[in-house]
Amino acid sequence: MSENLDFYNSLELTLLKAENLISDGVNNSKSLFHTPVLSTFINNTISTRTVVLREFNAKKRILRFHTDSRSGKIEELKENSISSIHGYDPELKVQVRLKGKTSIHVDDEISKKAWTQSREMSKMCYSIKDSPGKKISSPEPFDLVKEEINIELGYKNFAVLLFYYDSLEFLFLKGAGHRRSLFDWSSNQLKSSWLIP
Ligand SMILES: Cc1cc2nc3c(=O)[nH]c(=O)nc-3n(C[C@H](O)[C@H](O)[C@H](O)COP(=O)(O)O)c2cc1C
Repeated sequence: MSENLDFYNSLELTLLKAENLISDGVNNSKSLFHTPVLSTFINNTISTRTVVLREFNAKKRILRFHTDSRSGKIEELKENSISSIHGYDPELKVQVRLKGKTSIHVDDEISKKAWTQSREMSKMCYSIKDSPGKKISSPEPFDLVKEEINIELGYKNFAVLLFYYDSLEFLFLKGAGHRRSLFDWSSNQLKSSWLIP
């Protein structure tokens, strides 16, 4: 990897670096930011899972994910929308942590647009006949056979999650000196600071 460390001693460039890494994660399936980890609350415990990043709007600080509206995380998010996103790329040695809230979109303009833009392969999993996470006695009856389903009917189980963040923490590991910084928009105005790594 050729190192471009312009951001190393600049908060402004660090934020740009973070935004570029997340942006790259949308279409680059090799990027570790393509599959970040979304954490939510379930009662007093924390629930964590990998999700595929579908869209990133750096200006609005929104990440888009897709999920099954019958999955456990939907009820969890209805109870408590506070959530976080974590990604680490070992090749780049960069960790990004985002804190924010997630909104759920089922059968609205946002979900319709996302469904229309989805590929057949991605749409297929929403046709599974029961709720993801349900206990079953054997997995085979739940295997999806493309020829046997009407993929478009899966839309009724399709949900979009929009994650809005107001805190971004960046950590870059480097032997000669790690770099950790925090970008905080919670007062509607960006506050940037270095942190001791
Ligand atoms: C590489 C990878 C990508 C995944 N992408 C998604 C995704 O985009 N949306 C999703 O709901 N689950 C995705 N999953 C499955 C989730 O990690 C999780 O198992 C599932 O959503 C059930 O989570 P829940 O019970 O907390 O709702 C993915 C898993 C892996 C390993």
